[in-house]
Amino acid sequence: MVLKAEIHCHLEGAASPALVEGQARKYNVDVSGIISDGKFVWEDFTQFLKCYDGAADLFRSSEDYALLTESYLSELAADDCIYSELFISTDHARAIGISEKDYIDGIAEGMRRAKEETGIEARMIATGLRHGGPESVLRAAQYVADNPHPLITGFGMGGDERMHHPKDLAPGFEVARAAGLGITTHAGELVGPESVRDSLDYIKPSRIGHGVRAIEDAELVKRLADEQIVLECCPGSNISLKVYGGFDEHPFMALRAAGVPVTLNSDDPPHFHTSLKREYEIGAKEFGLSAAELTEITRTAVKAAFVDEETRKQLLAKLD
Ligand code: ADE
Ligand code: ZN
Repeated sequence: MVLKAEIHCHLEGAASPALVEGQARKYNVDVSGIISDGKFVWEDFTQFLKCYDGAADLFRSSEDYALLTESYLSELAADDCIYSELFISTDHARAIGISEKDYIDGIAEGMRRAKEETGIEARMIATGLRHGGPESVLRAAQYVADNPHPLITGFGMGGDERMHHPKDLAPGFEVARAAGLGITTHAGELVGPESVRDSLDYIKPSRIGHGVRAIEDAELVKRLADEQIVLECCPGSNISLKVYGGFDEHPFMALRAAGVPVTLNSDDPPHFHTSLKREYEIGAKEFGLSAAELTEITRTAVKAAFVDEETRKQLLAKLD
């Protein structure tokens, strides 16, 4: 049994079609445009983001969020995951018309329930929405800086990587950094190595979401290894979104061989027909990693986690 940890998963993107359909019945909403035969349907990244927002729109109260968080974390724990960081988005709270506080309290309650039932440790990474622009990212950062919560330990950014330059998005990250939050950002998923380089230069994260397209620039790969920037790799997501044609083309092992710290994550699991368990299976079957090597990947994730040192020590002890 390999213990797992996940540091890149979008909470709203983790809602299973069955759970979303249940919410759709509760709120009497037609979801046939985004779910068909029990599966989410989308064709490309732009449609995926729409599908994601359609599912997110059905979580409309603190209790809905507690349920979503508890169900996802309990599934993870059943697959031997000991630690989870979930990307949350106060923009979703605004979109459904609940307060940021109710949204965060609901998620924290779900984390509390899951921990009580299974022992799983979890934290939130607040995110700004890149396609919302610099002001929106700054607003998201300002909210968490002004309203510190013990379970919100990081700040990141998702959304459409093809929009807005990291230089323009940096002010939000500076606010989050000054508030003591760990910093990560999506880059090098849809856009090439320049997006990773510019993110390192302007946003200065300790981790990059995906980052896999850094492989196209040898200098940059060396920089990632030298600076020990941790990549939150999500191979199943990359194949599903056609960033790579197959696992044989995926740069996970090449990055690892170059000394870049890599981790395995599920991103938006049901959208990409994956789970954290499946990502570790991909590690074993497609990349040829042994159980000891997979445990080392979990160790990399825990070392890079946005968590207090006492909790990190306890998590690392479980891996020994
Ligand atoms: N938001 C949710 N999933 C995402 C992904 N894979 N890339 C960028 N933003 C996202
Ligand atoms: Zn992501």
